[in-house]
Amino acid sequence: MTLVLDGATAASAEANAACSLENYLALPDQSPGNLLDGRIAAARAKLGATAVILGHHYQRDEVVRFADFTGDSYKLSKTAAATGAQYIVFCGVHFMAESADILAQNGQQVILPDLNAGCSMADMAEISQVEDCWDALERAGLAAETIPVTYINSTAAIKAFCGERGGLVCTSSSARKALEWAFARGKRILFLPDQHLGRNTGHSMGLPLDEMVVWDPWAVQIGSFWGGQSKEQLAASRMLLWKGHCAVHQRFLPSHVDQARAKYPGIEVIVHPECRYEVCQKADALGSTEQLIARVEQAPAGAIFAIGTEIHLVNRLAKRFAPEGKKIVSLDDAGCLCTTMYRISPQHLAWVLENLVEGRVVNRIEVKPDVKHWAKVALDRMLESRD
Ligand code: 13P
Ligand code: SF4
Repeated sequence: MTLVLDGATAASAEANAACSLENYLALPDQSPGNLLDGRIAAARAKLGATAVILGHHYQRDEVVRFADFTGDSYKLSKTAAATGAQYIVFCGVHFMAESADILAQNGQQVILPDLNAGCSMADMAEISQVEDCWDALERAGLAAETIPVTYINSTAAIKAFCGERGGLVCTSSSARKALEWAFARGKRILFLPDQHLGRNTGHSMGLPLDEMVVWDPWAVQIGSFWGGQSKEQLAASRMLLWKGHCAVHQRFLPSHVDQARAKYPGIEVIVHPECRYEVCQKADALGSTEQLIARVEQAPAGAIFAIGTEIHLVNRLAKRFAPEGKKIVSLDDAGCLCTTMYRISPQHLAWVLENLVEGRVVNRIEVKPDVKHWAKVALDRMLESRD
């Protein structure tokens, strides 16, 4: 069948086709005259103050260079909550864009350039598994004295779960404040979904390791009623650590710290608190991405750092601080990239921006209103507990 289109419809069909993602994905990253960069810059300039581009520190250089604001999860959440821009283009991962939408004002729209940019750690806690855990705590008579705290690397549904049950959200830079807030209100914390951040933060506050027990959601499936613990162990615990982790950070091992110290005498080892407890214990300092950057910025010329975090950030810091005489290496020789952060390409960024210029919003992230309410309560508590 042949469709007969009038002039205006044909023109708009042609424009739609031109704006299809496939056409953008065929564009090379680099081309003579940097065609893609020029298109992104031109679209961004046309959008002016109606749009803001937020970029997480793990983004590729070709993308993050266009960010109006860069930051760790905490800083980007605050920036998203404060901006007046109509469109918030989030170059990060899904949970970050969801959090921005939850904190956004009426009329603002949040865009994630590639909807496949998720977070494998966030996927390790499903809301039905968390509800099963809570049911078990209720049966054991422990729920009323337990406060759920979720790392921001989690779905909006889990944030809402925490908000509705008197809990809150934290980021790696606000985890300690969040735990203090929660311990002021309950005897025990259910910490989701990163066991390492929970354990490292609890330990830094003086909690003994044996009072922080792991809740294994998969053990429940094979009949362990109490997530791999006895009822007595649950009752004696101060922290229940969800058995989740970040594959990028869990790769770092204590032996990497020993090797770095042997190779570069005087080296400072700084790592993200998503790394294992044993690695964090051997490191000189822990911090969120923003805090790791600040540590390098404040160091004197000649300082040497091994950094245990995502490789794009480490490489960017190495390049940026080389002229100041600071040497930066990855803690692990191989380095590891966050494949989901990497999904946001300059092609995707050009696609969402040029569509916005044409008045089309693509890849909008919208949290359902019923989830939004309690998730916002949990995020607002995070912002209040840290500042
Ligand atoms: P930051 O909040 O430290 O940027 O961490 C986000 C993250 O996902 C680390 O893996
Ligand atoms: Fe998630 Fe790890 Fe990637 Fe951070 S680095 S976004 S925790 S998978």
